[in-house]
Amino acid sequence: MSGMFGLAEYDRAAAFVRERANRRGLQLVEGQPVGLVLGSGLNSLAEAIEGAETVQYEEIPHFPSSTAPGHEGRLIVGQLAGRTVVAMQGRFHYYEGYSAGEITFPIRVMKRLGVGRLILTNAAGGVNPAFRAGDLMLIVDHLNFVGMAGQNPLIGPNAPAFGTRFPSMTHTYARSLRKAALASAQELRITLRQGVYAFLAGPNFETPAEVRYLRLVGADAVGMSTVPEALVAVHAGIEVLGISTITNVAVDQLDSDKETSAEEVMETGGTVVPQLTALLTAVLRRM
Ligand code: HPA
Repeated sequence: MSGMFGLAEYDRAAAFVRERANRRGLQLVEGQPVGLVLGSGLNSLAEAIEGAETVQYEEIPHFPSSTAPGHEGRLIVGQLAGRTVVAMQGRFHYYEGYSAGEITFPIRVMKRLGVGRLILTNAAGGVNPAFRAGDLMLIVDHLNFVGMAGQNPLIGPNAPAFGTRFPSMTHTYARSLRKAALASAQELRITLRQGVYAFLAGPNFETPAEVRYLRLVGADAVGMSTVPEALVAVHAGIEVLGISTITNVAVDQLDSDKETSAEEVMETGGTVVPQLTALLTAVLRRM
């Protein structure tokens, strides 16, 4: 797969998913469904989705397959908090070797399925010294280090069926959705941090010098996903909400005895699922 797709490929994938959803009595009306991407350790959030039709990624035409640990690899269409959701249980990352176009293929498929708003979740390392493992962080903005290095899913011929050549990213994370998330957190008495998410390619975790550098340039959290999906969504006119689970505190001291591990990331991710489910359910009710 080259990673360069045309409208025909997105539509073939969308038609397949739509047909499966319809079989279950789920209608996907333009602008109505909410997209949901579940990050590392957050798979079980999908269990809250009712009346679900589950489609394996391998079944969907042109879909990449999930190789990252803790990423199941299925698309779940159903109801959550009375809204139709199209949820990705498992996403694609650069570090898996996929191209920018492949990572974000599902987002354009969601657009063709009528998705108007997208909730992106992820596991991230805390860079802000006030952050603790288990915190939730509302993404207010991002630093796209991979993009700065020339890897951006919007590079190549523009796809005018989705959006313009030079999309603005001033309002990447929609203000109305951020407000809804903050209000929901307050209502539930959940502490919701706010911060800037730095996107690095991975797959290695950061060196202490890199963590100190990220803090210096304004990052509050660091991770290996989300930003490519946000770019493609905004380009296509989809509103984005981003929530990071701070699964670990990024280590900033050379002689620290602590070391970030994938096990810690998955474990902490699992422990915050009930809180995150409550928060997202409340946000969906406000949408
Ligand atoms: N760094 C990068 N990505 C991550 C981290 C981290 O510390 N934790 C979870 N995803």
